Amino acid sequence: MGAKESLTITDNRTGKQYEIPIENGTIRTADLKKIKASPEDGGLVGYDPALTNTATCKSRITYIDGDAGILRYRGYPIEELAEKSTYLETAYLIVKGELPDGKHLKAWQNNIIAHTMVHENIKRFMDGFRYDAHPMGILVGTIGALSTFYTDAKDIFDLESRRLQTRRLIGKMPTIAAAAYRHSRGLPYVYPDNNLSYTGNFLSMLHKMTELVYKPDPVLERALDVLFILHADHEQNCSTNALRSVASSQVDPYSAVAAAVAALYGPLHGGANEAVIRMLMEIGSADRVPAYIDKFKKGEGRLMGFGHRVYKNYDPRAKIIKRVADEVFGVTGKNPLIDIALELERIALQDDYFVSRKLYPNVDFYSGIIYQAMGFPLTMFPVLFAIPRTAGWMAQWAELVRDSEQKITRPRQVYIGEQVRDYIPIEKRPEPDMREDSVSVEI
Ligand code: SDX
Repeated sequence: MGAKESLTITDNRTGKQYEIPIENGTIRTADLKKIKASPEDGGLVGYDPALTNTATCKSRITYIDGDAGILRYRGYPIEELAEKSTYLETAYLIVKGELPDGKHLKAWQNNIIAHTMVHENIKRFMDGFRYDAHPMGILVGTIGALSTFYTDAKDIFDLESRRLQTRRLIGKMPTIAAAAYRHSRGLPYVYPDNNLSYTGNFLSMLHKMTELVYKPDPVLERALDVLFILHADHEQNCSTNALRSVASSQVDPYSAVAAAVAALYGPLHGGANEAVIRMLMEIGSADRVPAYIDKFKKGEGRLMGFGHRVYKNYDPRAKIIKRVADEVFGVTGKNPLIDIALELERIALQDDYFVSRKLYPNVDFYSGIIYQAMGFPLTMFPVLFAIPRTAGWMAQWAELVRDSEQKITRPRQVYIGEQVRDYIPIEKRPEPDMREDSVSVEI
């Protein structure tokens, strides 16, 4: 008989033994509650700040093997999808679970196109932002505001409502993103041109001026489509976790996606592609790279675009992006920052500090160099991450809503604060201790 799929735990405080079943390479942390030091004890709790080793859900959408550098959407390797698929076809795969046949792909494309327009009030809402508002801040606010336009979205257990909100968000995200860019440039908003592809229409809404019809450069249109494929989903990353936690309260998907956009905004997550370019511009030339590598090794700042919670090998997306860069530079001319990035990679991958910590280039290391070469301002880079990730977020949201094991997210804590104490009349209170390391100076 094979080895038992279980743990036998001995609690040395009581000498008692407990049998904890192992399922899918995990134990249910709730099973630890039966391990008690005394009858009145509430039982053991798992402690895992930042959820570094905790599975919060079962999912069929994306598979990552961080050691082998493998990424698959619904079982299809990212390398094949990037070469042979389109973003909208990949979005269908991620949302529906299978690649569409010709009829269903056409229907899907029409369903998305039908939702590229936004309510005219959205334009007035966006006009309220300062001219220099970061587009990610505009996106967080505007996506959240969509929940007030589509009140049917609250019916999250209705399949047709979930399908309609999914089409709306995938269709409208590029329109809102482009409008945020036009707002920052003081340019009029451009209506969608549904005769163009998904990325072609996005480029039109960004760049169309007085010409009757915008003609996207086919190389740039395809390059952006491949970048969108690469960013479409990535299992339980920070923004998807934020989405799932907010959605677990059964709020509408627009509010949950707004939370995901907010998480993606951070420089350690989707904001990293913007931070990489700022880092490369500060380094300025390849000969200054060694000095910056030394700084990062001393903990003075991070080599942005390097490292990953899951990938302890080269991010497969980064390899593909490097190839896309050459195609884009063929049209735009080479972005000189690529030489600094290549030198950073060359030196870092030979340095024990990075090698011992398994820090390799991630999806953000080269993507910003392409976006800059394509003429996007730095502040638009995380927006270019949010647009394609909408398909992943909607698939993850639907999976959460349908998962009978899920309920409202409410983690535990380890309380390390004061024990019970009596109220002190104001005249008897001591001068607060305002020293830097005093706990009373936390905010
Ligand atoms: C994305 O999760 C996803 O799937 C995200 C994403 C997706 O598609 O959704 O892949 C997209 O967010 C990619 C990551 C983009 N962020 C960056 O490029 C920012 C720079 N990288 C990091 O800050 C960091 O690597 C993280 C945030 C990505 C991962 O951090 P972890 O797993 O929490 O690792 P850690 O902070 O505990 O670091 C472990 C060690 C530390 O050193 P020691 O304390 O052991 O001495 O590695 C060091 C860190 O100081 N380290 C770095 C580093 N990243 C980690 N040192 C220098 N430069 C870095 N980039």
